[in-house]
Amino acid sequence: MPSRPPSRRVLTLRTERLQLRPVTLADAPLLWPHVADPVMTRWLSWDPHRDEATTRAFLRQVEEQHAAGRGVLWAIFEEGAFRGLVGIEGIRRGFLGVHMDQAELGYWLGRPFHGRGLMTEAAGAAVRAAFDVLGLHKVRVRAMAPNAASLRVIRKLGFRRVGTLRSEVLRRGRWLDVELFERLADDGAADRREVSPGSVRGGRRASAPRRRPRPSRTAASRRATRR
Ligand SMILES: CC(C)(COP(=O)(O)OP(=O)(O)OC[C@H]1O[C@@H](n2cnc3c(N)ncnc32)[C@H](O)[C@@H]1OP(=O)(O)O)[C@@H](O)C(=O)NCCC(=O)NCCS
Repeated sequence: MPSRPPSRRVLTLRTERLQLRPVTLADAPLLWPHVADPVMTRWLSWDPHRDEATTRAFLRQVEEQHAAGRGVLWAIFEEGAFRGLVGIEGIRRGFLGVHMDQAELGYWLGRPFHGRGLMTEAAGAAVRAAFDVLGLHKVRVRAMAPNAASLRVIRKLGFRRVGTLRSEVLRRGRWLDVELFERLADDGAADRREVSPGSVRGGRRASAPRRRPRPSRTAASRRATRR
């Protein structure tokens, strides 16, 4: 069941070099020209935007998802300058009789900003917020097999590989394998303790890390899925 999203203030995050806040329709001009870059979007599941109207339609959808508690997409800034987006999307709280509390991580940076460790930093903050602020139990991430930079980021974030979805997507004329990874709220508790209090500001971590209270059947399902 979708739940109400936390406030924008709570969803404003800060890392050593970056500031993250939920993206809005007014940000459309910032996303250009990056969203029209055929190289940057090569291993993404969407095609380059042809015009700003496409970007605005996309952002309208994002705002709807956010309002419905189905996802959060953050705009990433470095010293006030836009760098890219990172999202915790497709939040699924449950299905029929089971609780799930899971979602999928996705991200991109404008090409001039690649290779400086920025996404590892931004996505790390988003994943921490997924667990500590959104109360999720699991985050998944997928990357097309040729996307070496993304696979490296995923490893650096401490995700565990689930497996290969063989010949999963037809992208620019080629059927590609997709690598699937997951991370549980309980995984990597040690590296989450290394984050100094306040470094993810605005979230619950700003005081004491706290989880959303869970019904007992969620606790049971967590035990059942723990490996
Ligand atoms: C994937 C992406 C977000 C990575 O962001 P980034 O800030 O450049 O990533 P980082 O600098 O934190 O790390 C990149 C790592 O990949 C490595 N890398 C980059 N290109 C590589 C390549 N072609 N082969 C192997 N490794 C590569 C870098 O050396 C670095 O590893 P290191 O830290 O061990 O040196 C960025 O490349 C991007 O926006 N790509 C386009 C959108 C996209 O593909 N999104 C992911 C969809 S799943």
